[in-house]
Amino acid sequence: MIALISFILFLFCSFSFQASALDFCVADKALPVGPNGFSCKDPKKVTVDDFVFSGLDTPANTTNLFKFGFKPVFDTQLPGLNSLGFSIARVDVEKGSVVPIHSHPGVSEITLLLEGQVSFGFISSDNTVYQKSFVKGEVFVVPPGLLHFAINEGNSSGSAVQGFSSSSPPVQVLDLALFQSNLASSVIASSTLLNIDEVKRLKGVFKGTEYMAKHGHDAPDDADVVLIPTVSNNCLDMFLKDQLAYHS
Ligand SMILES: *[C@@H]1O[C@H](CO)[C@@H](O)[C@H](O)[C@H]1NC(C)=O
Ligand SMILES: *[C@@H]1O[C@H](CO)[C@@H](O)[C@H](O)[C@H]1NC(C)=O
Repeated sequence: MIALISFILFLFCSFSFQASALDFCVADKALPVGPNGFSCKDPKKVTVDDFVFSGLDTPANTTNLFKFGFKPVFDTQLPGLNSLGFSIARVDVEKGSVVPIHSHPGVSEITLLLEGQVSFGFISSDNTVYQKSFVKGEVFVVPPGLLHFAINEGNSSGSAVQGFSSSSPPVQVLDLALFQSNLASSVIASSTLLNIDEVKRLKGVFKGTEYMAKHGHDAPDDADVVLIPTVSNNCLDMFLKDQLAYHS
């Protein structure tokens, strides 16, 4: 009988422990980040503040080349979002602003326009553009991973609230991938068919290349090779051995 009661108590305790442990996984920003996000904070240390963010009532900073601002409320800003698979943000677009072409790999996005007249669009993988001019109250959805953009077409600033299907959505901006990366100018020129001088001008605009960081100016025509890391024969041997070991 005592054994049975102990067993039931044990079941009850382990069940209730598991139930509370599974309710949430608040981000512990002190612990390393894994592929599934932050590690869970000790539930005993979780407070209501872990589930609260304030500040989306004020505009994001729009002082940049494209005159748009983005205020994310991701798991970094709101630890209680960790592992929940969604997040929210505020976007502000000044008059004349463009949100440059970008994508969120694997993540879909929904936007509610609250103020202004903004054109939103995405480009499907068969290169069709789905674009429309929106007024406040309208909602636009971008399917996962597709390139998309926004243009403020109005005479005043616009603001929108966005939702993402990830608590930590990644972003890849086309301009930055091309002109803020350390990809060799010659490769960018040959793959975009842009003139090499234009590529270098854009690298200057976006502060691209390791070369620029090191030398304070863009690489001369023939210096692009400097950007490609050299692999010593030793490293190559080790790499090949690893590969062989892996496949055997
Ligand atoms: C807005 O961003 C710019 C550029 O990063 C910065 O210089 C400025 O201090 C920021 N303004 C505010 C109010 O944070
Ligand atoms: C913006 O202002 C211009 C010039 O006053 C006007 O022609 C245009 O229709 C306005 N656009 C909108 C969207 O209000």
